[in-house]
Amino acid sequence: MNHANEKRQAAQAALHYVENDAIVGVGTGSTVRFFIDALAGLKSSIQGTVSSSEQSTALLKQHGIPVLDLNAVGPLSLYVDGADACDRNKCLVKGGGGALTREKILVEAASNFVCIIDSSKQVDILGGFPVPIEVIPMARSLVAREVVKRGGQPVWRDDVVTDNGNWIIDVHNWRINDPLALEQQLNQIPGIVTVGLFARCRPSVVLVGAQRF
Ligand code: 5RP
Repeated sequence: MNHANEKRQAAQAALHYVENDAIVGVGTGSTVRFFIDALAGLKSSIQGTVSSSEQSTALLKQHGIPVLDLNAVGPLSLYVDGADACDRNKCLVKGGGGALTREKILVEAASNFVCIIDSSKQVDILGGFPVPIEVIPMARSLVAREVVKRGGQPVWRDDVVTDNGNWIIDVHNWRINDPLALEQQLNQIPGIVTVGLFARCRPSVVLVGAQRF
């Protein structure tokens, strides 16, 4: 089974979690693209969506699916998003597409986070896929030095400005034994907006192609 098929299957399976009249939080990336295509078939039975990126907003609007402002809606019952890596405890690395900040906000806002991935994303230990960190531009070097102190190798994604006007550092060569502790430590560093480790708030369900765990 190729990865595109697994992504499509996971996206299709996520539709089972969409309730009538729901406002659905929508993530970002190629797997979510399949989810948005599938969600178009249900658009008359949901109130709308809240989007995690300009990219997903554009796709949702192309399908005629309403996109609402998070500030104008209450808590979300469902958030559906992909991931760059997922360990056995459902801790994730996210932000390969640069949308980690709005993604983390929507994870927090939703009572149910359904993660959709293909099997290439399953790992024993996080860190093989570089960990994205969104930073306030003036803090880029400071954050990079803090990352080096903690054993990571920071690389500035110098062609990217996030939807929030910030920059991204990708941290290579981290072997992450305790994702929650590292996420909490990094959250203390001024200038870091969002760490692409999702260990504190994890998905309730991970759909890997047609499998669920
Ligand atoms: C975007 C993300 C995506 O969920 C992640 O990059 C996975 O993308 P894809 O579904 O294309 O493999 O975190 O910021």
